[in-house]
Amino acid sequence: MESEDRIGRIVAQMTLSEKVGQMIQPELKEVTPEEATAYKFGSVLNGAGVFPGGNRHASAAEWVATTDAFWNAAERAYADRPFRIPFMWATDAVHGHNNVFGATLFPHNIGLGAAGDADLVRRIGRATAREIAATGMDWTFAPNVATPRDYRWGRYYEGYSEDPEIVAAYSAAMVEGLQGEGPAGQLGHDDRVIACLKHWIGDGGTAFGVDRGDCRSSEDILRNIHAAGYFSGLAAGAQSVMASFSGWANPLNYDHSPDPECPYNGKISGSRYLLTDVLKDIMGFDGIVLTDWDAHGEVPRCTLGDAGYCINAGVDVLMVAARASWRSIHALTQQQVRDGLIPIGRIDDAVTRILRVKMRARLWDKPRPGERALAGHSDVLGCAEHRAIAREAVRKSLVLLKNSGGLLPLSPRSHILVTGSGANDIRKQTGGWTLSWQGTDVGLQDLPGASTIAMAVREVVGTDRCILDPELRSIERGRCDAAIVVIGEDSYAEMRGTLRPWRSLEYSRLKKSYAGDLRTLRELRRLGIPVVTIFLSGRPLYVTKEINLSDAFLSAWLPGSDAAGIADVLFAAEDGRPKYDFVGRLSVSWPRTKHSSAINRAPRHMPAFVTPEEEQDPSGIHAPLFAYGYGLGYRSSPAERDVGQIPLDRDEADEAIAPAEAPFDVLSSPGNPFRWRMTGDNMWSGEEVSFAEPVDTPAVHTGPECHLRAGDALRMRFKGGMAGLVYARAADGAPRDLRAYAAADGSIICLVKLFAAPEAPLYMACHDDYPSQPGIDIAAALRAMPLGEWSPLSVRIRDLAEIGSDLEHVDTPFMLYSEGRADLAVAEIRWIPGTV
Ligand code: BGC
Repeated sequence: MESEDRIGRIVAQMTLSEKVGQMIQPELKEVTPEEATAYKFGSVLNGAGVFPGGNRHASAAEWVATTDAFWNAAERAYADRPFRIPFMWATDAVHGHNNVFGATLFPHNIGLGAAGDADLVRRIGRATAREIAATGMDWTFAPNVATPRDYRWGRYYEGYSEDPEIVAAYSAAMVEGLQGEGPAGQLGHDDRVIACLKHWIGDGGTAFGVDRGDCRSSEDILRNIHAAGYFSGLAAGAQSVMASFSGWANPLNYDHSPDPECPYNGKISGSRYLLTDVLKDIMGFDGIVLTDWDAHGEVPRCTLGDAGYCINAGVDVLMVAARASWRSIHALTQQQVRDGLIPIGRIDDAVTRILRVKMRARLWDKPRPGERALAGHSDVLGCAEHRAIAREAVRKSLVLLKNSGGLLPLSPRSHILVTGSGANDIRKQTGGWTLSWQGTDVGLQDLPGASTIAMAVREVVGTDRCILDPELRSIERGRCDAAIVVIGEDSYAEMRGTLRPWRSLEYSRLKKSYAGDLRTLRELRRLGIPVVTIFLSGRPLYVTKEINLSDAFLSAWLPGSDAAGIADVLFAAEDGRPKYDFVGRLSVSWPRTKHSSAINRAPRHMPAFVTPEEEQDPSGIHAPLFAYGYGLGYRSSPAERDVGQIPLDRDEADEAIAPAEAPFDVLSSPGNPFRWRMTGDNMWSGEEVSFAEPVDTPAVHTGPECHLRAGDALRMRFKGGMAGLVYARAADGAPRDLRAYAAADGSIICLVKLFAAPEAPLYMACHDDYPSQPGIDIAAALRAMPLGEWSPLSVRIRDLAEIGSDLEHVDTPFMLYSEGRADLAVAEIRWIPGTV
């Protein structure tokens, strides 16, 4: 072939130093154009949160000025040579051109999986390619074709589905959208970019969902589940593949690799078997294999400054973060070739592949980035046409899990309360990889044209009829017709979003603010306000309590910047008919229990396949709550729409616990083993409470009281107007396992002397070290008491467990909480088996 000859002629003239320069890809922050000239680098990447001049709001023109500077630097590098090698710029455009100010932000892949629409994915790829081209770049590290199998994995949302079927279909569609159709067909056009399938292979299948962990599956499963996106993506012409940070611990070959230099087990970036034998030789891939960010440093026989082992394994391009590392690799790789440790043939193969991809992308024919058709056109970024695709994608990705009584669609004329931790928080919508790695530090000022769900609702019903109250501070019954409660995960990426193997999947226990959402839902139920809950998340979680407290519940995944797509489906037209139906269907299985973190349907082509959990689970506890493919629409029957009260997960461990037989004293006449504190907010701080003298804070006033003897009781006056808490905490802070009292169907009992009845809800609760669990409202019971006399009060411990109290780790066995005024004394507090 003519181009292969041309490549061969160039490679034959290149010096070793020039070849190694092509193979190193430094990060923008750690390289200058002068260094790109001196070292003759072949490409550069801008990592997440890295911008020209450190300016997050850099315009398309500023990006192009930077890509031009490096392109020119590479031209200068070859100015005195008989050939030239054009430069190439790589970026992570994984849900739109997400590292660039003003770009369209599409839903993360997990939401696209639910949309079940490969053509939509192709159009998203095309739009993304145009936006990348507007900033003068050539190459994106997308699509991520992981087949995520464990919800705990912090990159779950980067995958399309737990099932290889969708991954395979979408991989091809995204590659076609980015590169154009046909093998590298339109790659030379100014509005196309090079795609990269990542992360080869098994990244979605690591044991326990550990990020960068080991996939312990057989080769059969690697091939049939985790390689699906590679077969189709490569067939569609993808020109690059990124090796995974993760490893493969093949259970069938453990510890007896046939050749120690060619291990079957270990980090993929150092696996000659998987990179060279399988991907390149067996599958016939002739493009670029590159490592992930400094991944060579994680391969046992390499260091950050020595990537020789990875190169021998089959890596063509090394993504290197730090200047010190690439300097070292540049020198050492040449030395390793001279010492015979790396065959020159391997280097030539790597460079041939790099030049082949550059040639297929017609980089020799393209002018400098600034002179290409779309370059610098800031009007392409976030243009109306692309935003319309994003809005369509949001609409199609929504999965309706419950719609009791046909609450949805809502009338555009209704008064709507928008509440919950995600009501007005753009970060919960856009997730990680949004102008920064974790996506936690962005705001609306960074995302022009973006709208939160509250803004989208306001757009439909009008400002007057939309009440925004994220923390539910002041709502009363009658002020609204329905509440839209937006709850969900805070933004994260990679290992920072990974849940440790021992963590449960229970949403309300993952973070304090998430527990607040459960409180909000309970309060709305108490007020009798109809609730639509929108769950924003990168994965399915255990949200059964939240579903039970909602009339309608939908999963919106990580929808990105165009919340209008949610309002499109939630609200009817003026004539009362839905404008759009819910077409999204689960591309994942939804867990029934708090710990079934890896339930996946058996792929169609492997009907006998069962997950390890299922194998050990004849009882069916790992059967999903909502199966793969589930999703309601406006035409679903009432019986289908109303999923009823779903039984809560009862930990098997709880069942096995022997019932308590003796009482556990919190405060009794002879003793008070706890430290009492009070505070005006719901954080664990505040004032020490004394049983000997009065203590005053803005929220609560406490003082000693006498039941049987002086100082054996505590009086507390909640002043109202703010949160007031009084609580008994273990002096050593150590939690106690008090589940035996739930097993004994026990109660927390105490005596109360009422001085002034509560004016607002007053909650009794117990807490683990996570100070935000809801309590049981005892205001009505208190109001029924006579003033000035000691009266018994009891709360059933199973009721506390039902609302999410963690009885296994109780360090605060008694707490009272109110935001209104109340005056009472407590004495003789104990946990008892049974009821009084
Ligand atoms: C991620 C890759 C990404 C790379 C460059 C790594 O941390 O694993 O998916 O392409 O960073 O930003």
